Amino acid sequence: MSGRQMVPPVFAANWKLNHGPSDARAFLQRFLALVPRQHDRTLLLFPSALAVGAVVEALRDRPDIQVGVQNVHTEAQGAFTGENSVQQARDVGARVVLVGHSERRQLFGETDADTARKVALVVQARLVPLLCVGETLAEREGGLVEAVVQRQLEAGVSLLDDAQAAGLLVAYEPVWAIGTGRTATPEDAGDVHSLLRRLLSDRLGERVASGIPLLYGGSVNRGNVQALLAAPNVNGVLVGGASLDPDGWASIVRS
Ligand code: PGA
Repeated sequence: MSGRQMVPPVFAANWKLNHGPSDARAFLQRFLALVPRQHDRTLLLFPSALAVGAVVEALRDRPDIQVGVQNVHTEAQGAFTGENSVQQARDVGARVVLVGHSERRQLFGETDADTARKVALVVQARLVPLLCVGETLAEREGGLVEAVVQRQLEAGVSLLDDAQAAGLLVAYEPVWAIGTGRTATPEDAGDVHSLLRRLLSDRLGERVASGIPLLYGGSVNRGNVQALLAAPNVNGVLVGGASLDPDGWASIVRS
């Protein structure tokens, strides 16, 4: 069974190192004018940590849009100059936390053990983890897609009990498709999403697994979003570059 009917579509914007507080306020002024309150879909925004406060403030009258942080530290507190903790994320008004984005894994050496620890801390802080998984081009060409995605998913939820794991969001983001203009075909995405759904069903049962939103990410844009959302077990999108312009992002979230 596909989980699509049960999960309202999720549109998540990952701004990475773009849009400080001033740009974020200007973005939202325009975006909110274009996009009225949504009832049939979930909108998520992941600004840079320094802009989260401004975004939460600008969205005070828009509870339909949830704000998240792009990363948290593996420890809850301590002497870790430059890091942000889960409690601080909660305090500033974030509700969701990206964990294990491929840029964290590739550029900052984040391991499966780190993602497991972060997911657990996020859940303990009563925030929602959005766990990212995805293979590199070399792994895809080496026939390792299933093994990599399975390893990353299982590690990510390894410290959670089943009730906690039921509250997860997952994004499949093939590394070779991120920021490259190269998108997975809806068929590729559907294959991996169906695998993720099966792995979650094995652990949590079909009913619970069918309620976990599975997002696709990697060069999603206005032109390909509808076809990707129509693929089996694709319940939403996680978008970088095409989420930076308010008009463009508005047209994507209204897909
Ligand atoms: P992209 O980034 O849409 O610019 O490819 C997606 C992501 O990294 O989450």
